[in-house]
Amino acid sequence: MKIIGTGSSHPSLAVTNDKIAQIIDTSDEWIWRRTGIKQRYVVSDERFEDIAADAAFKAMENSGLSSSDIDFIICSNTLNEYTTPSLSAIIQGIIGASCPCVDINVACAGFVYALDAANAYLQIGKMHNILIICAEEPTRMMNWKDRSTCILFGDGAGAVVVSDGEGFEASDLSTSSCTEMLYQKRGLCSTPFLKQKEESPDAGAVMDGREVYKRAVKYSARDIKNVLMETGITADDVTWFVLHQANKRIIETIARYLKQPMSKFPTDIERYGNTSSASIPILLDDLNRNGLLKRGDRIMFSAFGAGFCSGACLMVWNK
Ligand code: UT7
Repeated sequence: MKIIGTGSSHPSLAVTNDKIAQIIDTSDEWIWRRTGIKQRYVVSDERFEDIAADAAFKAMENSGLSSSDIDFIICSNTLNEYTTPSLSAIIQGIIGASCPCVDINVACAGFVYALDAANAYLQIGKMHNILIICAEEPTRMMNWKDRSTCILFGDGAGAVVVSDGEGFEASDLSTSSCTEMLYQKRGLCSTPFLKQKEESPDAGAVMDGREVYKRAVKYSARDIKNVLMETGITADDVTWFVLHQANKRIIETIARYLKQPMSKFPTDIERYGNTSSASIPILLDDLNRNGLLKRGDRIMFSAFGAGFCSGACLMVWNK
């Protein structure tokens, strides 16, 4: 499997740290120093599904394929307006594709899991071109009174088209059930048969930031090491470490652990905040469109999030 096209899209409204400091008790200085974030894009007047479809259109255009060439769509999404149908089915209609579609919810680790699944589908030989879209609007999951969570996230979508070819080297995925560290409960319809107490449906996401931070560093470093071991290369042989953009300090800690310079760890969290599973394909698209990726570059992807789910995947850039 190789990546043959990338695309990304963002809402029109940029919300700076200063703007958030007008709403809750925080400051640009605190957010910047603790996270590396300066601003994020937030869904306002537009339809979220149009942003997701826009990223898909751009990835297809970049790949030279059209919607009729796509054999399968995998969409990584944690939450959107619809419980059903799937977001991938909605996007399929907008982009005019007619292939089967599936949504996955692996929180922020979705892109790595989608790459792994796409590689398996291509290997079976039933499909040849797969569109992966990671589209997330975490700002609508937040409790905007909780300053330790709402400052972190931004909305956006990133997409890639993958195809038969040489590129996928290895992956390592893991899930260790830990639901209290990071979760959001949704409001469900009540029935005459439920005895449980009604919970507020708009409580927002709950996160133990320090615990997530610790696990993020530990599991990401472990996943990367496992992939390096499986492929028999060292961290020095990796050209780019394209990591989930959750907190710049997490990325710096992983770089130190791997004894690699920060110049190999591109970041865009300053502009976009944490866009959950969309963060890696958005960053990859920025690298691709800025001409920074050369044929033969080895790219290590690594992501982690609620679950606790994490994974790393090594690919050679062969576009
Ligand atoms: O995609 C995966 C999803 N999540 C993550 O990756 C999150 C991982 N965790 C983190 O990024 C960090 O833990 C945070 C950025 C969430 C928090 O940074 P921290 O350095 O771990 O801060 P802390 O939670 O230890 O809080 C330090 C202080 C506290 O005050 P006291 O108790 O020391 O007086 C907080 O109340 O900072 C306070 N604080 C804030 N102050 C100003 C927490 N949030 C804010 C805020 N503005 N927004």
